[in-house]
Order: sequence, then structure tokens, then C-alpha cells
Amino acid sequence: MKVLGLETSCDETGLAIFDSERLAEGKSGLLGQVLYSQIELHATYGGVVPELASRDHIRKLVPLFEELLTQCDISKNDIDAIAFTKGPGLIGALMTGALFGRGLAYALDIPAIGIHHMEGHLLSPLLGDNPPKFPFVSLLVSGGHTLLVAAHAIGEYQILGESIDDAAGECFDKAAKMLDLPYPGGPNVARLAENGNPEAYDLPRPMLHRGLDFSFSGMKTAVHNLIKDTAGSDSDAVVRANIAASFQNAMVDTLVKKCVKALKQTGMSQLVIAGGVSANLHLRQTLENDLAKINATVHYAPLALCTDNGAMIAYAGYQRLQAGHEDDLAVSCVPRWNISDLPALT
Ligand code: KG4
Ligand code: ZN
Repeated sequence: MKVLGLETSCDETGLAIFDSERLAEGKSGLLGQVLYSQIELHATYGGVVPELASRDHIRKLVPLFEELLTQCDISKNDIDAIAFTKGPGLIGALMTGALFGRGLAYALDIPAIGIHHMEGHLLSPLLGDNPPKFPFVSLLVSGGHTLLVAAHAIGEYQILGESIDDAAGECFDKAAKMLDLPYPGGPNVARLAENGNPEAYDLPRPMLHRGLDFSFSGMKTAVHNLIKDTAGSDSDAVVRANIAASFQNAMVDTLVKKCVKALKQTGMSQLVIAGGVSANLHLRQTLENDLAKINATVHYAPLALCTDNGAMIAYAGYQRLQAGHEDDLAVSCVPRWNISDLPALT
């Protein structure tokens, strides 16, 4: 079964084809993928401008689809089903992919299904070299979400904790802005942090001893104050790198401690990290070290599949279509959607 996946929930236009028959041949199920990032378009504004995002998805969907078919060396008639991101995300952006996918499926007379963006992220490590087996704890960390989920099976997700204010990725983006780094902030903060001392400044670890929820809004203020207090220093470059490293260290420390707590609380021994922030190498390394101490393992998607992409949507779509799920002709996108409200596979 060849499933076309479409991701347009924010500022990436991602298309991919997952082919289950390749799995049977012992190959990766990913037949091909194309990704267009709107980073440059939004960089001038320091963040995503929703209307510009929607318009750009519309411009890119058809040429990217044609490029994908060429890359995979197939025709559109070889596609068996289409999966598109139905939510959560920017409503206008979601609608572009949903309408394109639903319309194409209708024209080709094949099934279509709307997928939960975070379920796409959550299942993406199953496309990696070291896939986890259910049940596992999943830390979903993106620009819009910070969630700790107990994943019992596909569609059986129990939220253990979440951010009560800013998402972890959002906090990286805001810290980057304060450090005059370009959008998107996460990778740029991580790059600057490479040359800094993570112990230089003691930044807060919010809500560390309170359950499994997170709070990152205080971190913004802490970084802001730190930048103000250190302004005018002779060694500005060193100070900035130290701030980035100390900030990243505090973020990672908070995320890792909550993950360890969640594993202990659930008695599970596998942790999956997914979403844009899971591309952070310091987070991956710290989790590997700390989880080894409690005989737990950490699993993540290949780096290219950590941030938004069409492959994760194609894969989640394949899993649900195979179980008989499919959407009707009406297209309704869901900008806010709780992952624990998803139906189980059976
Ligand atoms: O999952 P994603 O691509 O889009 C959303 O669904 O939000 O995540 C994007 C977020 C951004 O906030 C970005 O700054 C962050 O992931 N991010 C990172 C890294 N790469 C991306 N944060 C920290 N370190 C990174 N290496
Ligand atoms: Zn995402």
C-alpha cells in the first residue's frame, strides 16, 4: 500500500510516500519525501505569519507533489491512499493540505484520512533504526506543544503532563530572539551553546518537584534579566555563548528529570522523544546517559524526521487506514485537538 502524506500545519510543506510493501522486502518503508521550509519567508517577522504560510503552501503543493512523483518514479495512479494533517495547527495552513489531499483522493477515487499532527510526531521514531515497542512514554516537544504521554498502543494515549504555559520549542525561539539569533531559534541557540559553558549561569528549573507538568514562561524572564545584567561586558561573544549554553542546559535538565519521573511512575522502560526540540543533540545525549542509569532506553526519529515532515503523516495514515479508518468527503480541520481524544485502532 502506497500512502501519500501531506503536512501543512505550520511553516513546512512536507510530502512523502510510505510504501508498506518495501517493509516486507526489509527496506525502509519511506519511498521518497520532499520538504519545503518557509523559514526565509517568515524570518523577517521573527515568527510565522499565518496568512503568508497558507498562501505559500498553496503555491508549493502542486510542484512539490510533481517532484515527489518523479523522485519515487511513480505516477499519481500508483497512490493507494492519502493522509493529511487535520490538526492541531494554523487553521488556514491546515486547510490547504486537507483540501488538496481530500480533492486529490476524490479525483483518484482512493481513501483519505486526516491525521493528528502530534500522533505523526509520536509515531515517527517507528520509522527509525531503533524503533520502540508499545507501551512507551513519549515526550512530545515542538514549537506548539510540550507533552508527556503514556502510549499504550496506536491511538491509546494518556496525557501524563503538559506545559501550563509556553511550549519548550517556543521558549527556545523566544530565548533566541532575545539573543538576536534568527528564527527558528532552537537550532541557532543549540549552535551558539556549543561554544559556551553550561554551568556559567544558574537558570531556573521550573516546577521540577511538582508532578509531570511543565512551565516555561518564567524562563523567558530569567533569560531576559540575565541578558540585561550582563550587558556591556567586554567579552560579549563569550557571555552570549554562556547564556545560550546555560539556558539549553536548564531546559534539557528540566525535560530529562520529568521524563525519568514519568518512566518511574508508569513502570515503563522505553522513552520516545519526538517533535522539533527532539532534534536537540544535548537533549538526546543527556537522555541516553541518564536513562541508562535506570535501565531505560531512549528512541527517536532520524534527525530529518524530528521537525515537521510528510513522512510521519504518511506513516500514521498507513497505520490507521490499514485498521479500516478513513474520513468522509467533508473536510474539517481542528486547530486545537487533544491527542488523548483520538480513537484507538480497533
Ligand atoms: O515540530 P516542529 O518542527 O514544528 C511544530 O510542530 O511546532 O518544531 C519546531 C520547534 C521550533 O520551536 C524550533 O525552534 C525547535 O522545534 N527546534 C529545536 C531544535 N530544532 C528545532 N529546539 C532545540 N534544539 C534544536 N536543535
Ligand atoms: Zn510539529
